[in-house]
Amino acid sequence: MDSRVSARALAGALGGWRTREPAYEALADSIRLLCLDNRLAPGTALPAERELAAALRLSRSTVAAAYRSLRETAHIASTRGSGSVTLPLRRRDPGRHYAAEGAIDLQQASPPAWPGLAGVMAEVAASSAALVARVGYDVLGRAELRAAIAERYSQRGIPTSPAEVLVTTGAQSAIHLVASVLLGRGDRVLIETPTYPHAADALRRAGARLVGVPVLTAGGWDLDRAEQAFARTLPVMAYLMPDFQNPTGRSMSPHEREVILRAGERAGSVLVLDETTADLDIDRGPVAAGFGDGDPASVVRIGSLGKTVWGGLRVGWIRAEGDLVRRLVAARPAHDLGTPEFEQAVAAAVLADFGAITAQRSTLLREGRDSLAAVLAAELPEWRIPHVQGGVSMWIELDAALSSAVVMDVRSHGVLLSAGPRFSVDGGHERHLRIPFTAPPDELHRAVVVLGESWRRVRAGAPVSFVEQLESVV
Ligand SMILES: Cc1ncc(COP(=O)(O)O)c(C=O)c1O
Repeated sequence: MDSRVSARALAGALGGWRTREPAYEALADSIRLLCLDNRLAPGTALPAERELAAALRLSRSTVAAAYRSLRETAHIASTRGSGSVTLPLRRRDPGRHYAAEGAIDLQQASPPAWPGLAGVMAEVAASSAALVARVGYDVLGRAELRAAIAERYSQRGIPTSPAEVLVTTGAQSAIHLVASVLLGRGDRVLIETPTYPHAADALRRAGARLVGVPVLTAGGWDLDRAEQAFARTLPVMAYLMPDFQNPTGRSMSPHEREVILRAGERAGSVLVLDETTADLDIDRGPVAAGFGDGDPASVVRIGSLGKTVWGGLRVGWIRAEGDLVRRLVAARPAHDLGTPEFEQAVAAAVLADFGAITAQRSTLLREGRDSLAAVLAAELPEWRIPHVQGGVSMWIELDAALSSAVVMDVRSHGVLLSAGPRFSVDGGHERHLRIPFTAPPDELHRAVVVLGESWRRVRAGAPVSFVEQLESVV
């Protein structure tokens, strides 16, 4: 056993779990989903049956039956002394009957590689003899790549010198590194909800206590809540995605950028702006980057080629004031020893052609977005489909708070999705589902047809009282 989850924390993470009868199977399914989403890591001790029963106001026999069901599907093992502990997931979700082969995986939003990438790689490979004669990796990044990244910022109206750029192995690694340098245990971090879940996980691992600020597909950033959260909790850091926020696809208006910048300044917070999705514009058009006239020490930007060029390239970066760059470089080797030079050389070459790349991305994402919107309107007209102007996904509002239940159900029919609560900071969002539109249109079509059938099944099986209750509350 590596860790323990309290009955209260588990009850919070389970949210509105009672989506079908019998109750013990609905509870077991919701715990399975927490395991699948990695919100319950393998090796976590679950609360004793009696404690969970009390926290959920259930009979102990219902929890005992749920744990028995989880043992039968090999999600947990129960031993005298240690209680019930989650097990590593098997490749196939046990107890469910879908063929992993042919399954449509919409849990990740990974666009296919930019078509010109293989050619650029071949060109770089032609100079491999010179590359392999060197050490081959470094913690700061090659001068030519840092200069190319700095130049892109300057073109966006954010004057930048190469000394303010550190190349990482992707944006995830950048988030982790920034968090490990800026945060101490118990520090508060303001974060959007819904948000990009791996950032929330990285911040929690660095010891952060997360303070959620809602972002609504229709209304954008909740500025009242943001100002209050900055003023009351004085967060050390705020982690934000101002352009094509993942998962809502929203971009901050100039007013939203300004209010958040000033509230962060008053609270003395460092604003970490994740711009991994910022270049994925379909039909929004250019906007001012904002956050420009604040204290340079309190605005950190993170970027990546993961969505614009290819997730497999593993090149990201941090733009920060020179002092912070030096601290990040000093801290980095404990985490990783640097970015491979081959990838860096490829990255420098593709940045030279970046305008063509973002134009291709725009066409691809438009096709995905429009196909997804059309099939959703046909199959699930009762859902509220947002019009997004860029990014990688839609954050869809369902007509009942059954996101986890439908995700479990489609899973057994070969469609893998992440339920709304995966993107939540505090366990909510059962009424939302993220669907990425980065997959090919025919896959999106097939997935939504399955989803429509599943939704009707799940909704019919949900206790009437449950649906009504959640419809009135959410
Ligand atoms: C907002 C956001 N930040 C960071 C990442 C991680 O990017 P990378 O693949 O460069 O590590 C992703 C990937 O999905 C993302 O959506």
